[in-house]
Amino acid sequence: MHNITLIPGDGIGPEITDAVKTVIDAVGVTVQWDVKQVGLKALKECEDPLPQSAIDSIKANKIVLKGPVTTQVGRGFKSINVTLRQTFNLYANIRPIKSMQGIRTLYDDIDMVIFRENTEDLYAGIENVISENRVEAIKVITRQASRRIAEKAFHYSRQNHRKKVTAIHKANIMKKSDGLFLEEARKVAEKYEDIQYDELIVDNACMKLVQQPQMFDVILTENLYGDIISDLCAGLVGGLGIIPGMNVGDDYMIFEAVHGSAPDIAGKNIANPLAILLSAVEMLKYIHEQGAASSIQNAIYRLLETKNYLTPDLGGSATTTEMTEELCRLITNK
Ligand code: NAI
Repeated sequence: MHNITLIPGDGIGPEITDAVKTVIDAVGVTVQWDVKQVGLKALKECEDPLPQSAIDSIKANKIVLKGPVTTQVGRGFKSINVTLRQTFNLYANIRPIKSMQGIRTLYDDIDMVIFRENTEDLYAGIENVISENRVEAIKVITRQASRRIAEKAFHYSRQNHRKKVTAIHKANIMKKSDGLFLEEARKVAEKYEDIQYDELIVDNACMKLVQQPQMFDVILTENLYGDIISDLCAGLVGGLGIIPGMNVGDDYMIFEAVHGSAPDIAGKNIANPLAILLSAVEMLKYIHEQGAASSIQNAIYRLLETKNYLTPDLGGSATTTEMTEELCRLITNK
């Protein structure tokens, strides 16, 4: 049995996390879900958007499956996602990007994984108002953070039989900051002789990603480039609705879909649960439930191929419940 903290989240979060629980049940993996509210719901229930009980649960279980959490724009409490990343030092944002049969895009043979540094760069949040007409934002790149994300990418590559890591940068212009990032990436690359290493300037990388995405295997990059590139890559295989995500540190992991809480469709039973289900697939692999992970993944591929029981965002008319039931049927009938 596995102990996992489950954060249903806001908006469509409870509907899609319920779908995950149902599917994991159908595949026969026993999970003790420790359900914790964070975000708007927690604020209403216990006047704290990130209650101590949720923090304690994550500390105890170390693995979290998280639904999306609403963040108020320009007001309200600090983003729970940012707070969780900082509290648990989740320095690597990992997104597997893979073509799926049944989802029509320009390419059908994309298979890459993006490693985005999650804690610094322009996202350090240091913005100084110098005068009424001048604001400066500071880009922070440290040797330690560059080193650990490079280590993570190469270690993952070796473990998962990936052949090449491509570091994406703009060190021709940001010679010192991106230069430091590359310096550490190169040092780590030297230790992994079995994995090919190359570098691309970010603008050129974007063109190549669109024209020839098959040339990429594992991408290693800083926070801002990673943020942009990972959505570009999601678009290459069909959008955010089918992309899993993970926030990873040395001690804790949060698995979550990349999309938000979709308040416009919340409570209507039409949310697509595939992105969070694919995140759960990554979680099952991590907890050594490879067989269950493959069963769910194959069921998702078959569902997409047959084009039946798809939710409206994928061009179908099924409800979340109907799609979930069909996935369970595909899993149990094999
Ligand atoms: P969103 O991703 O929630 O929605 C954008 C559009 O995609 C909407 O039309 C929505 O209906 C649709 N959509 C999203 N997920 C879907 C799904 N699973 N199935 C079907 N349709 C789906 O982005 P938006 O509207 O910008 O953000 C809403 C809230 O979510 C905001 O408060 C934002 O801060 C938060 N958010 C939270 C994230 C997280 O917790 N990881 C990530 C991104 C946004």
